[in-house]
Amino acid sequence: VRSYLPDLIPQDKIERILEAGRLSPSASNMQPWHFIVVTDPQKRGVIAKGGRYARFISEAPVTIVGCGNRKASPKWHIVDTTIALQTMVLAAAGEGLGTCWIGSFEETQVKELLKIPDDFSVIALISLGYPREKLDLAEKTFRLIRIRKKFEEIASSEEFGSPLGKKP
Ligand SMILES: Cc1cc2nc3c(=O)[nH]c(=O)nc-3n(C[C@H](O)[C@H](O)[C@H](O)COP(=O)(O)O)c2cc1C
Repeated sequence: VRSYLPDLIPQDKIERILEAGRLSPSASNMQPWHFIVVTDPQKRGVIAKGGRYARFISEAPVTIVGCGNRKASPKWHIVDTTIALQTMVLAAAGEGLGTCWIGSFEETQVKELLKIPDDFSVIALISLGYPREKLDLAEKTFRLIRIRKKFEEIASSEEFGSPLGKKP
């Protein structure tokens, strides 16, 4: 969802979404993540300007900034933080909210703006809000950007490239 109503999100919804992240699995249960809930319009404006495909950050009432602690889990902090963020995406859908993953941001700028400690990397952002209907992307872009690969292209049986349902 890249177009949002201005309605604010009740705090209990935000907390249930964060709780879904808090309970997510992580390697060695390190939980090497930190989530910053950004509502301040000025801050969102700055973050939005830092990315090429992130204008809607200004419109969505909340941006969740997913940070991963490199020091706590050098190998898995990205995977763990990503799992937690995606769990939060699903929890948000359960709360009737729309989200969009955002990789289009300027990390140095976000770190400075939000006072994120050096040990943390910004893994991804998630915009969050009530979807504004019919004002997402233009029909053509919409189809292009949402098309999926065929099942046969993304799954194999027993070994890479062997069609499902057939033994190699
Ligand atoms: C890691 C990641 C980063 C993304 N970054 C952006 C982004 O910066 N801006 C954006 O508009 N969409 C972004 N997306 C959303 C994808 O464009 C979108 O998920 C994909 O086109 C499939 O569309 P759908 O999720 O609506 O089906 C990102 C998705 C992922 C998983």
